[in-house]
Amino acid sequence: MTVERSLEEITPENIGDALGIEVRDDQRRAVAPVAKSLAEAYAFRERAWPRVIRCEGRAVGFLMAFFDFDFNHALATSEPDLRSGLWRLSIAAAHQRRGHGRYAVAAVAAEAPPPWHSSSHDDLARRRWQPRALLPGAGLLTHWGNERR
Ligand SMILES: CC(C)(COP(=O)(O)OP(=O)(O)OC[C@H]1O[C@@H](n2cnc3c(N)ncnc32)[C@H](O)[C@@H]1OP(=O)(O)O)[C@@H](O)C(=O)NCCC(=O)NCCS
Repeated sequence: MTVERSLEEITPENIGDALGIEVRDDQRRAVAPVAKSLAEAYAFRERAWPRVIRCEGRAVGFLMAFFDFDFNHALATSEPDLRSGLWRLSIAAAHQRRGHGRYAVAAVAAEAPPPWHSSSHDDLARRRWQPRALLPGAGLLTHWGNERR
């Protein structure tokens, strides 16, 4: 049976669903609450890509990707170090271990529109999304990005 999943932009209709996504109590130190992510998405609106993860009509999680963020922004003299990747991922406690996290990571890599407006074609080829493996055993799905090679 095919499971219908999607990533949804945050809207007035689904913001309540997004804010209602909560991980297990013992996982809270692993990821910020959705409310904090949405505040950051507002501040970094050019760089953040927040989405509700929906499955068969139900909101099962939240993620936020980031694009072309300069990891050297605090170092005025350094070259820009632009990176993109997954910033936050939370699957609601009641919906974990059903493949939603794996789906979400793959969906970001497939769907997110890279804001590469200032990039040349060569840059695009070098910097295209590079899905990296789940960290086995760590329980974390982290760091899919366009790491420089
Ligand atoms: C980590 C998290 C996103 C996984 O989402 P999920 O929907 O439960 O994961 P999936 O069902 O898609 O499983 C994906 C893989 O991760 C593994 N996995 C999931 N939770 C795990 C855990 N707690 N410990 C070990 N492995 C785990 C699964 O076994 C699976 O691997 P497999 O396919 O090789 O068997 C989810 O547990 C979560 O939201 N945790 C709290 C927040 C967090 O840690 N976020 C990531 C850092 S920002």
